[in-house]
Amino acid sequence: MNHAKEAAPPWTLPRNNSRVTLKNILVTGGAGFIGSNFARMMLERYESLRIVVLDKLTYAGNLQNLADLNPRFAHRYAFVQGDIADASAVHSAFADFSIDTVANFAAATHVDRSILGAADFIATDVTGTHVLLEAARTRGIERYLQVSTDEVYGEVLSGASTERDPLAPRNPYSASKAAGDLMVLAYHHTYGLPVVVTRGCNTYGPYQYPEKILPLFTTNALEDLPLPLYGDGRQVREWIHVLDHCSGIDTALRRGEVGHAYNVGSGEERENIHVTRLILETLGKGESLIQRVADRPGHDRRYHLDSAKLRALGWVPAQRFEEAVPATVRWYRDNEEWWRPLKSGEYLAYYQQQYGSRLRGSV
Ligand code: NAD
Ligand code: DAU
Repeated sequence: MNHAKEAAPPWTLPRNNSRVTLKNILVTGGAGFIGSNFARMMLERYESLRIVVLDKLTYAGNLQNLADLNPRFAHRYAFVQGDIADASAVHSAFADFSIDTVANFAAATHVDRSILGAADFIATDVTGTHVLLEAARTRGIERYLQVSTDEVYGEVLSGASTERDPLAPRNPYSASKAAGDLMVLAYHHTYGLPVVVTRGCNTYGPYQYPEKILPLFTTNALEDLPLPLYGDGRQVREWIHVLDHCSGIDTALRRGEVGHAYNVGSGEERENIHVTRLILETLGKGESLIQRVADRPGHDRRYHLDSAKLRALGWVPAQRFEEAVPATVRWYRDNEEWWRPLKSGEYLAYYQQQYGSRLRGSV
């Protein structure tokens, strides 16, 4: 990963016949997995930027993910606890920090939870996005970047999704994300808001809440607990390291054309069973820990992105799956103090609801 600082000022972008300089970025959802990695990466890359994280601190938000930023970047980093669906909290953040750029990572993100109940997904991923867009429209903004997902295209059994493909989401999470994604593009077409959308693939790396497959299976294996593999385990996901995903978002933000969407994919597709075996092999654990359980309802079989449009802007992912996944697994092995406290309380109630009967009635 290239962390070299770009020649200043990196944030000078063309607007009409003049140029705009982006300075104060509101990173919503910045206490979560990708948002916290993005905040750190941007502070390290660009000395002229100020990052303001606005996060509700749901079960997935964790100030530990940002703990190193205060001493390192005290004068350029601030944290505000707030809900993106709360208009007064959003307007205050815009005013208090002279926000000129929004990078919206805030979302309810776990597909299995959306199947158990979609209300939080609609409240944040749809209504919350709309509140942010209204604040951006009425207060004025230089760039609004929406972090969307490959899931908005629905499953693709062959070939690859391009940005021109229609959106065809199939689960409550991806339907909520698609609604937010389309609303963002509608604000460009209707009001001229300078928006860019990124649609990223499955992401792995440090600080991912242990409900997603990689940290869940890694931490379960470390505890010698079963790894609940859905269905036949042959579903395919495209995997990208979180810093590659973040650098793709940075590229789209700085070089993307307003009103456009950009896919952020690595091209590295793997079946879930392969990911599972790689985790076990890295930890020196046996395959007897794999427990095949009832499938996720409506489980999308495969996602795959055509990312040529973003690559044409100069972005190239730096990490390779077969080395970077084991490195990530070792990060969880070496940072138990980060994940152990998370596997308690609400997590255990969710785990019981999601996996209790599945693990009792394995297939
Ligand atoms: P995450 O669940 O780790 O973090 C989400 C963050 O948003 C948390 O800090 C949470 O507290 C915050 N949040 C939730 N509701 C909020 C609200 N109403 N107001 C303010 N903050 C709120 O998620 P992640 O995996 O880091 O995903 C970040 C973004 O990237 C999401 O928009 C997601 O849809 C998208 N995405 C994720 C992946 C992936 O593989 N993880 C891939 C593609 C796109
Ligand atoms: O594709 C991008 C999406 O990737 C993001 O938009 C989502 O926010 C993110 O959660 C992720 O969605 P997935 O549903 O693909 O991720 P998850 O880790 O939940 O599952 C990955 C694959 O592993 C999927 O095919 C389901 C399977 N799986 C998952 C879990 C949690 C299992 O077999 N067992 C499990 O216990």
